[in-house]
Amino acid sequence: PKQSTVVLLPGDGVGPEVIAEAQRILELVAKIRAHKVSITFKTELIGGASIDAHGTALTEQALASCKAANAILLGAVGGPKWATGNPRPEQGLLALRKSLDLYANLRPCTFASDSLISHSPLKENIVKGVDFMMIRELVGGIYFGDRKEATEEDGFAYDTLPYSKAEVERVTRLAAALALQHEPHWPIHSIDKANVLASSRLWRKTVTEVIEKEYPQLKVDHHLVDSAAMFLVKNPRGLNGVILTENMFGDILSDEASVIPGSLAALGVYEPIHGSAPDIAGKGIANPVGTILSAAMLLRYSLDMEAEAVAVEDAVRKVLDGPDTAGYEFRTRDLGGEKTTKEMGDKILEVLEKELLGLNAAEG
Ligand code: NAD
Ligand code: IPM
Ligand code: MN
Repeated sequence: PKQSTVVLLPGDGVGPEVIAEAQRILELVAKIRAHKVSITFKTELIGGASIDAHGTALTEQALASCKAANAILLGAVGGPKWATGNPRPEQGLLALRKSLDLYANLRPCTFASDSLISHSPLKENIVKGVDFMMIRELVGGIYFGDRKEATEEDGFAYDTLPYSKAEVERVTRLAAALALQHEPHWPIHSIDKANVLASSRLWRKTVTEVIEKEYPQLKVDHHLVDSAAMFLVKNPRGLNGVILTENMFGDILSDEASVIPGSLAALGVYEPIHGSAPDIAGKGIANPVGTILSAAMLLRYSLDMEAEAVAVEDAVRKVLDGPDTAGYEFRTRDLGGEKTTKEMGDKILEVLEKELLGLNAAEG
């Protein structure tokens, strides 16, 4: 079997609660599929938890563990306890992204289960069939540009939004590679603010050039971010395909997109997109599904275990559909149910075990 190391970064708030469930999922995969993979887990601190222990949101040692790992699964960082202090928990996440040069953040928006369609705050006929992958550039733009904090004396602050052609090219190529994987090929919808920002004019020109020269078989269109924000709730299917955008627009649009499948906790990428949910932390009621689906993506993209990733996704779907589909028994509160984080995890594990044993049996 392939030896893999997965670093767990539970972080703050509900982070440890949802990571615990995702870890159990990965452990079950490793146990039943022991002939294919062996996973060593290593847990490190990040965010407020790291600030409390070490005075910094990410230690050199934790970062070194991450660099040595095959994959990293992160919960969430931040919370009221550290909101006004310095350092801030979010700096740990940004340092991790920058140090590992994680330039593309994949945030899929589709229904984990069709039974969730009716839970969406948008009308069923609007959201049915929505299926897109948002690719957010993650290590450039305004998050990492020159900035100046205001002082008491000057009352003046700024942030800057720089992009280089090379930074736009590489994320565009990744978007194109994902678009090509889909049959028929997915269109690319690039989102910018080219009517105002110089960085967006570079973005639009570069995306157009890369696609025209290197991927002439792909279709690309361009939207201004303000109208795209409207379009995303008015006719989200019109954006099916790959949505490609810069760091801050991607942050905002991916939270907006997360309401389509009904809950912030149903989308993810090796980290769920949600935060530390201080309002429900410690109650054991956070929805672990986003993190579990992130673990499925981890299996797919980092451990090359497509069949097992599909098994996890199937297990989640079956549990959300429920044995009693009419009652949708297995839901956390954000999806209108009453189950706890652990009860959801238990049920998904139970179904996943059958799926994985089925894989073993099929291999003989
Ligand atoms: P949030 O995502 O933590 O919470 C927004 C709402 O969604 C809350 O009502 C919360 O209860 C709910 N929610 C979030 N995750 C849930 C889950 N798994 N199950 C059920 N409900 C869930 O956003 P916020 O309140 O704006 O931010 C809180 C802190 O999290 C801030 O410090 C912020 O910086 C941080 N944050 C971290 C990340 C990350 O680590 N990747 C992402 C976003 C926000
Ligand atoms: C996210 C979060 C982070 C971001 C914060 C916590 C720094 O909102 O992952 O979407 O803005 O990138
Ligand atoms: Mn965000």
